Amino acid sequence: MDLTYSSYLKLDQLLQLQAPRSDPPEHDEMLFIIAHQAYELWFKLQLHELEKIKRDFVANHEYGAIATFKRVRTIMKVMVEQVDILETLTPMSFNSFRDRLETASGFQSSQFREFEFLLGYKRADMLRFQRPGTVAYERLVRRLHEPSVYDAFYVFLEQRGVTIPDAVRKKDVALPTVPNEVVEEGILHLYKTQPDLEILFELMTDFDEGFQEWRYRHIKLVERSIGSKKGTGGSLGVEFLKKSLFQPIFPDLWAIRHKL
Ligand code: HEM
Repeated sequence: MDLTYSSYLKLDQLLQLQAPRSDPPEHDEMLFIIAHQAYELWFKLQLHELEKIKRDFVANHEYGAIATFKRVRTIMKVMVEQVDILETLTPMSFNSFRDRLETASGFQSSQFREFEFLLGYKRADMLRFQRPGTVAYERLVRRLHEPSVYDAFYVFLEQRGVTIPDAVRKKDVALPTVPNEVVEEGILHLYKTQPDLEILFELMTDFDEGFQEWRYRHIKLVERSIGSKKGTGGSLGVEFLKKSLFQPIFPDLWAIRHKL
């Protein structure tokens, strides 16, 4: 059979995957499911693109990294904007099917956690929300123990003459990124002397800011939907989420801005 739009995109399968649980049906549950599925697809693409950025950094392909950071930054902006759609859900309409979620929660999104781990925001204790033995769990464990985008960034910087002290180069890759003053000095020098690298660093900062914006918009979404209630995943909800609110992904890039 000839390839068609539908067979190429596997639409028959894709469009079978929305299964609201409310009985009698609650109109808004479809929006809730599709919005989350759309996010999972964006997470999948982000992981794919960040893998390329890692390869670009290691291979010293500056323009490849620039092009792909432009893309991940733009996807991030779309991910932030999509929160608007969920905000058309009123607290009462969300409550009409919230019980159907039982203990399911964004906490359990293994791709979101992979996204954080791949970027270098590693929190091993977050594995406790995944079910051991599943494919998703194994993938996450692998991500925890592999070098992050930031580790690859050190390799790139070193090729550009920046000194990378052992304290960060040889740190356990399963630990989160830590800022380092020597690395910051090196980045500062490149910022001031190489306009092409300035473009890269600014794109990385855009992406980082975008991630923080997503966290803020998600918290406000949670606050307007459930107020101070606990999350379905069992956390304190808004209070828990606030802990990562201003968490930078690329701390060294933020630490030097007053010197630029
Ligand atoms: C009405 C909409 C939403 C509500 C009320 C909500 C609520 C919550 C709450 C309360 C938490 C804290 C964990 C818990 O105890 O459950 C959480 C975490 C999370 N949610 Fe949502 N959420 C909503 C929409 C979304 C959407 C659209 C996404 C997109 C993927 C999402 C992804 C996540 C992720 C990834 C976490 C873990 C965050 C972290 O560990 O820093 N949520 N959500």
